[in-house]
Amino acid sequence: MSSDLSPIDKAKFVCAKRASQMVESGMRVGLGTGSTAAWLVRCLGERVRDEGLRIQSVPTSTRTAELARQVGIKVISLDEAKWLDLTIDGADEFDAEMNLIKGGGGALLQEKIVATASDRMVVIADVGKKVETLGAFPLPVEVIPFGWQTTQALVEESLVSMDVLGRESSLRMNGDAPYVTDEGNHIIDLHLKRIGSPRQLAMVLNQMPGVVENGLFIDICDCVVLGYGDGKVEVHEIDSATVASEQVDFADSGNLFSDLSD
Ligand code: 5RP
Repeated sequence: MSSDLSPIDKAKFVCAKRASQMVESGMRVGLGTGSTAAWLVRCLGERVRDEGLRIQSVPTSTRTAELARQVGIKVISLDEAKWLDLTIDGADEFDAEMNLIKGGGGALLQEKIVATASDRMVVIADVGKKVETLGAFPLPVEVIPFGWQTTQALVEESLVSMDVLGRESSLRMNGDAPYVTDEGNHIIDLHLKRIGSPRQLAMVLNQMPGVVENGLFIDICDCVVLGYGDGKVEVHEIDSATVASEQVDFADSGNLFSDLSD
């Protein structure tokens, strides 16, 4: 089954697998959302089942909570956990300073709350997510439904004085209806092409009434585990400015792949 995975899925799997090894018994762990984070949850479920790993998890979406329960991981609320040892999540883009764009999967609000309430945030990403400058991926901004068009117009107006290349925005849709987040909000995607000053933009966006949160994660990520299609992973640590490279073996995860093909 692992041989059926595309190189990008292999890259997602290996970084998730490597990051799952950072989790220790007794930890309270934030679980991200998205296809890479789903691999992480499956790998952790395998450790719970095979090694008796004991963890309490705080998922960042209903989707992730459902998968975590399915694979036997204990789920608690953030208020029960209060603080987390570690959060592991995917990203849509990251730069050399480990600034991120997140929210492609629509879960940026819970993801930012959970990551911020953690001693450490580890990002798991395939190599395609690494960029020199953020902004090619549309920046998600979560807005409350009340007056969303007015909020969208205000956001677009604020972009005029920002260091960005594009200023178009679009309401995220789910079929014919606006996409609704787990918190009952909508998402406006900003097509900025290039974000010259992510820190400034994040602050300006969050000052706008109607904006709940934006998908720029600044000074939140501590480590990126980067996956490649050939099974190589690199662990980039921001504090020590180190990069450790290793190879992840697919063979010892045979169960995971056969579970998926059932
Ligand atoms: C969800 C996210 C995801 O982490 C991000 O979209 C990456 O997703 P994937 O792992 O599927 O590429 O921010 O809100």
